[in-house]
Amino acid sequence: MLPGQILLFIDPQKTQRFHVKHPGVDQHSGTALDGGTPLAREIAELTRRRQAIAADQLPKPDKTRVLTISNQKGGVGKTTTAVNLAAALARQGAKVLVIDLDPQGNASTALGVEHRAETASVYDVIVSDVPLADVVQKSPEFGSLFCVPATIHLAGAEIELVSLVAREQRLRRALDLYLAEMDEPYHYVFIDCPPSLGLLTINAFVAAREVLIPIQCEYYALEGLSQLLKSIELIEKHLNPDLTVSTILLTMYDSRTNLANQVAQDVRDHFPDQVLETLIPRSVRVSEAPSYGQSVISYDLNSAGSLSYLEAAAEIARRGAPQTGDTQ
Ligand SMILES: Nc1ncnc2c1ncn2[C@@H]1O[C@H](COP(=O)(O)OP(=O)(O)O)[C@@H](O)[C@H]1O
Ligand SMILES: [Mg+2]
Repeated sequence: MLPGQILLFIDPQKTQRFHVKHPGVDQHSGTALDGGTPLAREIAELTRRRQAIAADQLPKPDKTRVLTISNQKGGVGKTTTAVNLAAALARQGAKVLVIDLDPQGNASTALGVEHRAETASVYDVIVSDVPLADVVQKSPEFGSLFCVPATIHLAGAEIELVSLVAREQRLRRALDLYLAEMDEPYHYVFIDCPPSLGLLTINAFVAAREVLIPIQCEYYALEGLSQLLKSIELIEKHLNPDLTVSTILLTMYDSRTNLANQVAQDVRDHFPDQVLETLIPRSVRVSEAPSYGQSVISYDLNSAGSLSYLEAAAEIARRGAPQTGDTQ
């Protein structure tokens, strides 16, 4: 298949239009710009970003923002984004909850919380009406970061939910009850979705006010996006009028490839208000962190991936919740 057929919004004529940039490196000569080596320039840039973040005071939302991180494609960076945005905001002083709604339990792993089969989990909440408060665990990452783990039992929930009363609303009800009785409310709740548009993801859409869509800067990136947006529209119409796609985050960006630049530009052209300025680069440190049961924020704070997630978190905090006319 040709690239022009694969990508929804890509015009093959544009292929040559983008100049390949790589931070700190003169692509034509491979030599340093403005004195110093490319590596020195890159380090200086990372230091500048680190200092800017250290000096940053983020605004906190007046009421809890509930964001569901969704894309029915697997491997686009949903879990990585949920975990690292949550850790970034918690590090900046926010109280944050991550609800792991993927039977694979990757977010639970990355946040270092127990999720063996016998652990009380989100499965018990949505299938057996166990209160969320009974299954929330504190993440060892940061004092203000919490996680509702997913266990392997969740794999059966899609089928078990079918016969249950109010099957699309179960997470919403549990979350509303939990948030209503908290003395010190959460600033953010992130829901990490499985790679499908089944009942678990519908529960996440109904429980949330905002959808954050991570888009991988690669081939096929935009395929399926219109289906996702249509599903969200249906949920908004029938089940949750407050739901808005507030944020799109470009992930696994490799500035050296023309394709990544094209995808990023096309997504920005189509969703100018939703796409964050910050791009998440492809980074080995980001992919290593979960095997240590850590976010990249704890694993390697000063890495490019960590700084990018801190910057994306700051953008989300500054933009605030979208105005939906919801006054509750
Ligand atoms: N910015 C990144 N750089 C490098 N690897 C990444 C990055 N983001 C995610 N990954 C890796 O890509 C894979 C898929 O990411 P993941 O967040 O699990 O996607 P999803 O939850 O959408 O299936 C994982 O192995 C993850 O470590
Ligand atoms: Mg995942």
